[in-house]
Amino acid sequence: MPSLPNLDHYWLPFTANRQFKSMPRLFKAAKGNYYTTIDDRTLLDGTAGLWCVAGGHCREEIASAVSHQLRTLDYAPAFQNSHPLAFEAAERLAQFMPNGLDRIFFTNSGSESVDTALKIALAYHRVTGNPLRNKLIGRERGYHGVNFGGVSVGGIAGNSKSFGNGLAGVDHIRHPLDIGRNAFTRGLPGDGGVELANEFEQRITTLHDPATIAALIVEPMQGSAGVVLPPQGYLKRLREICDKYGILLIFDEVITGFGRLGTRFASDYFGVVPDILTCAKGLTNGAVPMGAVAVKRDIHDAFMSNSPANAIELPHGYTYTAHPIACAAAIATNEIFITEKLVDRSAGLSNHFEQAAHSLNGVPLVRDIRNIGMVAGIELEPTPGKPGARAFAAYLKCYEMGVLIRYTGDVIAISPPLTIEKNEIDRIFSCIAEALTSIAAEGDQALDFTRYLKNEQQWAAHQQEIQQQQRILGNAA
Ligand SMILES: Cc1ncc(COP(=O)(O)O)c(C=O)c1O
Repeated sequence: MPSLPNLDHYWLPFTANRQFKSMPRLFKAAKGNYYTTIDDRTLLDGTAGLWCVAGGHCREEIASAVSHQLRTLDYAPAFQNSHPLAFEAAERLAQFMPNGLDRIFFTNSGSESVDTALKIALAYHRVTGNPLRNKLIGRERGYHGVNFGGVSVGGIAGNSKSFGNGLAGVDHIRHPLDIGRNAFTRGLPGDGGVELANEFEQRITTLHDPATIAALIVEPMQGSAGVVLPPQGYLKRLREICDKYGILLIFDEVITGFGRLGTRFASDYFGVVPDILTCAKGLTNGAVPMGAVAVKRDIHDAFMSNSPANAIELPHGYTYTAHPIACAAAIATNEIFITEKLVDRSAGLSNHFEQAAHSLNGVPLVRDIRNIGMVAGIELEPTPGKPGARAFAAYLKCYEMGVLIRYTGDVIAISPPLTIEKNEIDRIFSCIAEALTSIAAEGDQALDFTRYLKNEQQWAAHQQEIQQQQRILGNAA
């Protein structure tokens, strides 16, 4: 029996902790497109970790760059000092970005990138003499991380309702999901995009003075809230409206960056360039926490030319901004993207991925399938009174069958490493089909989660034994 750590002290994020600890799912190793669990299951990674391991797991190039850096310069003060790798990482990222987004501010996560982007937008208007432009617009179902700015402009009530009022001066536009009209569309929904985007203009002109809006932030493709795709023409029209009213457009590309849609960024896919772009995840292949905000040069230059000489132009940053280890990982990841042509690989696989995803059309419980590039969302018919239960059962069944999938609410989201092979793509979707077919056949029984992952339950029992022994030892001492 593998040894199980003491599960008491670690409070897991976005996890049903009590449920998890009764059925722990722990990974001990990873290589390429696979994880190994502590009970020696091999899991095909259908989720690239959390959308971040685009280049496959445990890349030697990243490991050696990071380990070399750790032995050479472990840390340099981020304020008033820096180190050469920070500039190299920024230059490489600027070259990877859509044209014009070539000034880079580093952070440590997607959430920090979002809050940094919002602050840059607000500060930009102030530094250019428009301090009354201080409202922010987000979108329903938007996920922009978990910090106060991101939660405020985000559009998921479950993520904000426990945490007070958030930022003032925030409004939201409608999300574009319309299953009634677009179910089982392959790729982008065809129509309604311009009309939907026009609602943004209508909203800011009737409810606000557009001259008070600092920025609109959207994920080009809404990932975390269930793979919601923009209809054709929608993002282009948002760009036009922002231009018309002097509003900055922020694309949150934490998920869509680094080849996920078959282009470097979603901005490239849609041919729409934002003023500010946030990213993280694939930036270091998930190996080291890092995020970045890319801004148009004239936005950056406005800070430089309008701030007093020797003044700090942007009073913002983190102890670990451009951490040497993260920069080493980002540079090595960039090299992998270029030498292995990972973005082209993603584009080349997208067709096969789409066919495989839509092979689930007709499988029991499947209500909608949405896909773009190397992302697919499979929306399930919910069980009355138990939102997300079927998707969780599917997750557990797939886990038992050796495939790691992800779900939010009743949507299964698939986003494998871009190094995945066609037969592995087929395996992911056939595993989901098998899981859903058996869940439909089993009915309520399938939602009795104590039936799953028997081995882990044995470890939990083992864990309890350890704790009991510790208590006994503690009492004896
Ligand atoms: C679009 C988007 N923005 C921000 C974030 C937050 O990133 P992090 O979890 O690294 O803070 C995520 C995470 O999934 C995301 O999908």
